[in-house]
Amino acid sequence: MQHFPAFFTLNDQPVLIVGGGELAARKLRLLRKAGALVTVVAPRLNAELTELADDGRIAAIRRGFVAGDVGRKRLVFAATGRADVDERVAEAAHAAGLPVNVVDRADLSSFVVPAIVERDPVVIGISTGGTAPLLASRLREAIERLLPSRLGRLADFSDSFRSAVRGILPDAGTRLRFWSRFFDGPVAAAVLAGDDGRARERMLTLVNSRAAVEPPQGSVAIVGAGPGDPDLLTLRALRLIQRADVVIYDKLVGPEILDYVRRDAERIYVGKSRGNHSRSQDEINALIAAQAQAGRRVVRLKGGDPFIFGRGGEELGYLRQRGIAVEVVPGVTAALGCAAVAGVPLTHREHAQAVTLVTGEGSEGEPDLDWASLARLRQTLVIYMGVAAAGRIAARLIGHGLDPATPAAIVENGTLPNERTVTGRVADLESLVREHEIQGPAVIVVGSVAALADAASIDEPALAVAV
Ligand SMILES: C[S@@+](CC[C@H](N)C(=O)[O-])C[C@H]1O[C@@H](n2cnc3c(N)ncnc32)[C@H](O)[C@@H]1O
Repeated sequence: MQHFPAFFTLNDQPVLIVGGGELAARKLRLLRKAGALVTVVAPRLNAELTELADDGRIAAIRRGFVAGDVGRKRLVFAATGRADVDERVAEAAHAAGLPVNVVDRADLSSFVVPAIVERDPVVIGISTGGTAPLLASRLREAIERLLPSRLGRLADFSDSFRSAVRGILPDAGTRLRFWSRFFDGPVAAAVLAGDDGRARERMLTLVNSRAAVEPPQGSVAIVGAGPGDPDLLTLRALRLIQRADVVIYDKLVGPEILDYVRRDAERIYVGKSRGNHSRSQDEINALIAAQAQAGRRVVRLKGGDPFIFGRGGEELGYLRQRGIAVEVVPGVTAALGCAAVAGVPLTHREHAQAVTLVTGEGSEGEPDLDWASLARLRQTLVIYMGVAAAGRIAARLIGHGLDPATPAAIVENGTLPNERTVTGRVADLESLVREHEIQGPAVIVVGSVAALADAASIDEPALAVAV
């Protein structure tokens, strides 16, 4: 190990920065967060440093560096960008036995400043020993993406209960079990989701009951996996998938997304396709509940958003009735994912002032829709599960007054590598489906915005129907 990792307490401690430009300002921003009393020495200060100095938030000595400036500082930073001055600063600090960091000069520094991921009070420092700063910043980005934004809040929350837990659970082993269950359980999930009120309520119940040392309670997250591209998973979805003991997933959740599931976690497929329901919704509800009641962390993973034609509402109601802790994580619904890849703005000042999402299939066949209002102009319709009934949908809309020449687009496998967009008129919907052999999941977009579709992804342009 080239460097020994340690964190300094700098609150109200004197620190010297030599330099008055952007390099110095960057160090200063971090040091001020740590509460350091900073003195800046430089003949000229940039606007940011000048303002801080004028407001008295830093001390500024506006002249060249002299060795005596290092004085009794705790840390010294050389950030002038001038090799001769930086070398003099390093020399003076070494002579005074003070830790010194010279920006971009590991050879002159006695300590390095790591790349930092900050979720105060949680701080993660990453060092490559000065060998590859870009790699350190890439690692930082990767860790940033993985860590919940409210991680620091979680640390503070657990700290606020630390002494109460110690009082109630004097045995260290029991306490350890309690905290490990806490960080994996619904209380921590509520804190991370920003629901401090519920978290506090549950925590009080937990610390005041035997539940603290009893077998773990299961929980369910009903998670939207988005329209297919794994990059469209939300950060929260990703975290929950990676922590799940069991993932119960649908047909539209692809293998690239399932790759994020832990290897030792169980995967249960409960996919339904048109006319082929391997399990009924009642069976799925009971399965999710049983897994949670067995103390497991369940992720119920659904394509798109769980609450858009996803039966997420029924599952949520069923689980809540049984007192099972549930959270819902939204996903990018197919309409939004498909519109984005096809270049179709669903609302547009000149074309559409409203968007309506409808299903082409009801539980008993044709859905009971208000076709007259759907046929009104200046709105966009996005029809899910409408491919098989494309002809009927077009006939209903036209029958209720929609111009047969209204632009329409079909987006198949939106956001996936085999995505296709085909465009035409609403009157041609059935033939578009037939001629282009649309088979994958697809949404139909109806409205003048559909004419803006970037149909470049059509394999055979000759088949595209002119608008
Ligand atoms: C049962 S619904 C589920 C909708 C999902 N909950 C959502 O929010 O996107 C299934 C329908 O969603 C649409 N769909 C889902 N993923 C799609 C994709 N990648 N491309 C196009 N349509 C998609 C299709 O209309 C498909 O028949």
